[in-house]
Amino acid sequence: MNIHIREFKTGGAVDDEAALEQFQQQWTTYQKLVDTDALASKEVGAILHDALEGLSKPFAFLDIACGDAGQMPAALGGTKIRHYHGIDLSKPALELAANNLQNVPFEVELDHRDFVEALIRRPEPANVAWCGLSIHHLQTDGKEHLLKAIHDSTSDFLMIYEPTLADGEDREGYLERFRRVNRPLWTFMTEDEWKQIEHHVTTCDLPEHAATWLDLGRKAGFTKASQTFLDPTGFYDR
Ligand SMILES: C[S@@+](CC[C@H](N)C(=O)[O-])C[C@H]1O[C@@H](n2cnc3c(N)ncnc32)[C@H](O)[C@@H]1O
Repeated sequence: MNIHIREFKTGGAVDDEAALEQFQQQWTTYQKLVDTDALASKEVGAILHDALEGLSKPFAFLDIACGDAGQMPAALGGTKIRHYHGIDLSKPALELAANNLQNVPFEVELDHRDFVEALIRRPEPANVAWCGLSIHHLQTDGKEHLLKAIHDSTSDFLMIYEPTLADGEDREGYLERFRRVNRPLWTFMTEDEWKQIEHHVTTCDLPEHAATWLDLGRKAGFTKASQTFLDPTGFYDR
C-alpha cells in the first residue's frame, strides 16, 4: 500500500519553530535515542498498547507529532484501531512514517502540518489522542491552549509522554540534571550528536512539574488526570 502525505499551507510561523529545526535536519540523531531506548520508548509504547488493548470498539487514533511512527506498528498491533491519523511538520520523518506504516491493517492518514493549527481546526474527532515528547516545546499557556483543542476533539482519552521538572526544580536545575545524568549514560553519541541534542534541549525544552502537567490537563477539560509512568532516569513522564 502507498501512503500519501497530505500537504497543508501553514498560516504563518509555528509556536515552536526552533524545536522543529532539529527534526527537519537531524532526525538520525533523535533516532539513535529511540533505537538505544535512551528515552524509555519501548516501555512507554507497551503502556500505550496496554491502554489501547482495553478498548472494545473500533477506534480512531490521532498521533500528534508522530515523527517516523516507528513505535506504532507494535503499539497499535492487536488493537481494534480502524484509523490512524499522524501529524508532523518534519517531511523526512513523515516519509519514514509512510514506510513504517505501509503494511498495517488499518487506514492511515499522514498530514504535513503544524499540530497546533491542525488541532484547532480539526473537524473530525478522534477516540484516542497520543503525543510523545512534543508538547513541551510550547510555553505553558500554549500547552493549555493545545490541550484544550485536543480535549474538544477527543472522545475517550489522551495520553502524553513529556519531560518533567523534579520536585522543587527550576528549568536551570533541569538543564544541569540533563547534562549530569545523560552525558555519561549516552555513550553511543558522538560529541557532535551530543552537542546537537544539548543545544535543542537548552533552547527548546520547556518541561513542567508533574503536578502542572496534570493541572493543565484538568484545566483543558479532562475530568481525570493521572501520572502512570516515570522513566528510570527521571526525565520523562507519561
Ligand atoms: C521528539 S520527536 C517525537 C516524535 C514521536 N512522537 C516519538 O515519540 O518518537 C518531536 C516531533 O515533533 C515534531 N514537531 C515539533 N513541533 C511541531 C509542530 N508545531 N507541528 C508538527 N510537528 C511538530 C517534530 O517534527 C518531531 O517529529
